Amino acid sequence: MKLFKNKKKLYKELKNINNISFVPTMGGLHKGHETLIKESIKKSKNTIVSIFVNPRQFNDKKDFKNYPRNLNKDIKILKKLKVKYLYTPSYNDIYKFKPKKKIFIHNFSKKLCGRFRKKHFKGVLDVVNRFLDIVKPKIMLLGKKDFQQLILIEKHIKKNKIKTKIIRCNTVRDKNYIAYSSRLKRLKKIELLKLAKIIKFIRIYKNNLILKKNNFNLNQVKKKLILLGAQKVDYIEILDLKNLKKPKGYNFNLFFAFYIGKIRFIDNF
Ligand code: PAF
Repeated sequence: MKLFKNKKKLYKELKNINNISFVPTMGGLHKGHETLIKESIKKSKNTIVSIFVNPRQFNDKKDFKNYPRNLNKDIKILKKLKVKYLYTPSYNDIYKFKPKKKIFIHNFSKKLCGRFRKKHFKGVLDVVNRFLDIVKPKIMLLGKKDFQQLILIEKHIKKNKIKTKIIRCNTVRDKNYIAYSSRLKRLKKIELLKLAKIIKFIRIYKNNLILKKNNFNLNQVKKKLILLGAQKVDYIEILDLKNLKKPKGYNFNLFFAFYIGKIRFIDNF
């Protein structure tokens, strides 16, 4: 694996390659990332993974400080997966240049997480726009767990006529249906048990909604999540995946964000 810490050398390396596949990450690699990366390598041997904990997308300084970082472990995982290129830029490498495209922030950014994490999506779009400018990938792989981020990146790409195609990848879950996430590494065993109970409850609730046994009473669901051990529930909402509005029928996902202790957990299914 070739490691690049700055974009000048990376430009040289990638100059004549036209089928670059890109997996942007903030490190703390887990099974979800591994699946994205394997999928990427299947599509192109010229896979590049980035690891950059982007300070501009954190609305809480403590969360940024405590975000799991373990570059050596991540490198081992990437080598095992036979990733060709790794890019680990510094803050200046990413932010001390003017990208060609302006970021486009669709109004969907104001919903769900946007109500609770001010400037988060602006920070995500800013860094992704810069990565796309540097890497110029043919495809970029993103997970559906961060569905709102995925949609907003797609909207930015479309608006700016950027030539990268987004590949949406399914969420990878453990035996308790908990989606893998870097922040989970910070949960204690007892907190993980609480999380498993909550996810089980949400799944049953959703299944019952689909079987039309339950009414949409999301306030009651919020209360139940607190009873099951969530510290705070930011939101639990139902959205039609096609138009991102309140669903008319039963083709929807439940979107939720809550805290277990100090860890914020988001998912949708
Ligand atoms: O999903 C993430 O890990 C980050 O938001 C991303 C896309 C790498 C941008 O920093």
